[in-house]
Amino acid sequence: MIENTVTDRISLLIGQHEELKSISNTAQKLIFTATRPVMKELISQLFKLTEEHVKQEEEILLPLLKEMYYSDAQEISGFIIDEHNQIRKQLMVLMDSMDSFDEHDTEWAHSIQCVLINQLAHIFEEEQVLFPLIKKHFSQKSSHLRHLN
Ligand SMILES: [Fe+2]
Ligand SMILES: [Fe+2]
Repeated sequence: MIENTVTDRISLLIGQHEELKSISNTAQKLIFTATRPVMKELISQLFKLTEEHVKQEEEILLPLLKEMYYSDAQEISGFIIDEHNQIRKQLMVLMDSMDSFDEHDTEWAHSIQCVLINQLAHIFEEEQVLFPLIKKHFSQKSSHLRHLN
C-alpha cells in the first residue's frame, strides 16, 4: 500500500519532468532561430512549470526522506531545497536579462543553455539516483510489512 502511493507520487513527478524536458528541448532547438518574444515565452513557461513542480516535489519528497533518514533528513532536504532555489533563481535572472542581450548572439545562447543544462542535470540526478533510492526503500519496507502479516 505504502509502496503504491510512493510509486504513484513519483510517477506524477516524472510526468512533470517530461513536460519540463519538452519545453527545454524546444528552447534548445530554437536557441539560434526563435525571436525574442518566442524565447521569452518559452522561458517563462519553463519558470511557471518549474515553480509548480518544485513546490509539489518538496511536498512529496521531504516527508518521504524524513521517514527514510531520520536525523540526516534535514541535510538532504536542505540540499534539495537549495538546488530548487538555485534553479528558480537562475530562471528568474534569465528572464530579467533577456531584454539586455542581442538576439541570438553567443552570450544570449550561452546564458540560456547554462540554465537549461543545470535544470536537466538536476532532473537526471533525481530520476537516476534519488527516485530509485526512495522507491527501493519503500518497496523493501512494504515487503517487510507483508512478511509480518
Ligand atoms: Fe527537484
Ligand atoms: Fe524534479
